[in-house]
Amino acid sequence: MSIHLDLSRTLPTGDGSPDEEAASIDAVGIGVFADRLEAGDVPEPLDHRFLEGQGFTGEPGQTCVAPGPAGRVVVAIGLGAESDAAVATYRKAAAALARAAARQTRLATTLLDGAPEALDRAAVAQAIAEGVVLGAYRYTELKSDPEPNRVESLLVVGKGGKRVQAALERGRAIGEAVCLARDLVNQPGGSLTPTAFAVRAEELAAAGGFTAEVLDRDAIEDNKLGGLLGVNRGSDEEPRFVKLAWEPDDRRPRATVALVGKGITFDSGGLSLKTTDSMVGMKGDMAGAAAVLATFSALDAVRPPVRVLGFLPLTDNMPGGDATRVGDVLRIRNGATVEVLNTDAEGRLVLADALSLAGEAEPDAIVDLATLTGACMVALGTGIAGLMGNHEGFAGQVRAAADAEGEPVWPLPLPGELRSQLDSEVADMKNVGSGRWGGALVAGLFLERFVPEGTPWVHLDIAGPADASEATSDSPKGGTGFGVRTLLRLLSDFRTP
Ligand code: BES
Ligand code: MN
Ligand code: ZN
Repeated sequence: MSIHLDLSRTLPTGDGSPDEEAASIDAVGIGVFADRLEAGDVPEPLDHRFLEGQGFTGEPGQTCVAPGPAGRVVVAIGLGAESDAAVATYRKAAAALARAAARQTRLATTLLDGAPEALDRAAVAQAIAEGVVLGAYRYTELKSDPEPNRVESLLVVGKGGKRVQAALERGRAIGEAVCLARDLVNQPGGSLTPTAFAVRAEELAAAGGFTAEVLDRDAIEDNKLGGLLGVNRGSDEEPRFVKLAWEPDDRRPRATVALVGKGITFDSGGLSLKTTDSMVGMKGDMAGAAAVLATFSALDAVRPPVRVLGFLPLTDNMPGGDATRVGDVLRIRNGATVEVLNTDAEGRLVLADALSLAGEAEPDAIVDLATLTGACMVALGTGIAGLMGNHEGFAGQVRAAADAEGEPVWPLPLPGELRSQLDSEVADMKNVGSGRWGGALVAGLFLERFVPEGTPWVHLDIAGPADASEATSDSPKGGTGFGVRTLLRLLSDFRTP
């Protein structure tokens, strides 16, 4: 779906004026502050008695649809208290508008002009554009009788020059990137195979101004990616390893940032087979790789001042006749040997290779995103990602980026005293801890061993927030695209740690 955004100075009246654009608007979204509503003060053509009669209170994200002038639909959008309004309020409001007006095609909104002066206009415009794209998202690919959201365009009414126009365009691109990540997460594992994912990456690279180098099985063997090969061993599908690269405009970029994403296209657990219930949703075990690829797809629109590299290990984790046996030892890219005592702890094995390769590129910082542990969901619930790392300053940068984007993350420690849990009798280390507790931290400690000493690194365990079991204000059930906005903001604001 493509969303076109335009600025015009006044809301088209639709009263038969010759303005073509005005005549074609189907629905108009108007923001309502809860406290103003209470005082009986709502923008024209809304009526406060009508809204109150409908039970509309103006709380954030709430909508009320009413017939308007000239056969149009008018959508009142709750914004909460005026003094609490933030940029995120406008992302949520625009998403709510897209959902409430799902059957309309051409929307207009006065949200931007009604925003408090204290908020940066460009930031609000960007949030509105993001929100309408996010709110209109539905995964309908596989429905015989799809009921798609019909919204095709949004006219943003208000003052604004080039800066605001550019922000609208950037917001649209970011919204589309998040939806791309959602699509990849929602696509079944039997159709989004590692090979299909890699082809997708090549197509997106050709269209998006970045490069994608795909390593096939032979190249993966030549590169000694023993973790990826070990996990792939039980599968009939070939593995792939995708390397992405994007160059900024400056010939001497400020810095290089490496993004690593777990790309398990389906996680059955391998011989340590999951139960039926815990296997549901495991088509989304590539959400980290999806977030990284989606981030690349928006780099040409966002244009951060840094060089960006991407490392995506792709395989499914299957229990075939030649699957990695419990007790087998794999040799990772960096030479370390790992005893596999649970084949369901596969993410860390493929990430070990990817982090090793990322480290060899000598970036100024590394971020990995991975649906890594159920334990992280036990610790933080399904909505919050766990943040671990080896560098406080850089962890702070990632935290700040996530907070600014309203993608919840919370720091977890990497306690040195748990390291010995990974000691193995026969190899350099084993892939699971010996105790029962702290599974998210033990996984983080495992990954840390594959990051070169001195390279700032953050690990985001996104097992919870990558996949929504309930619809939220701007995402339906299923893939959320979590992490894309955080990564884009991190890259834009990056300071060498
Ligand atoms: N992909 C799973 C983690 C996961 C669980 C993601 C639930 C999303 C929802 C991962 O590969 C896994 O199986 N982890 C194991 C690790 C254990 C064997 C040490 C887990 O969390 O149980
Ligand atoms: Mn697993
Ligand atoms: Zn997994």
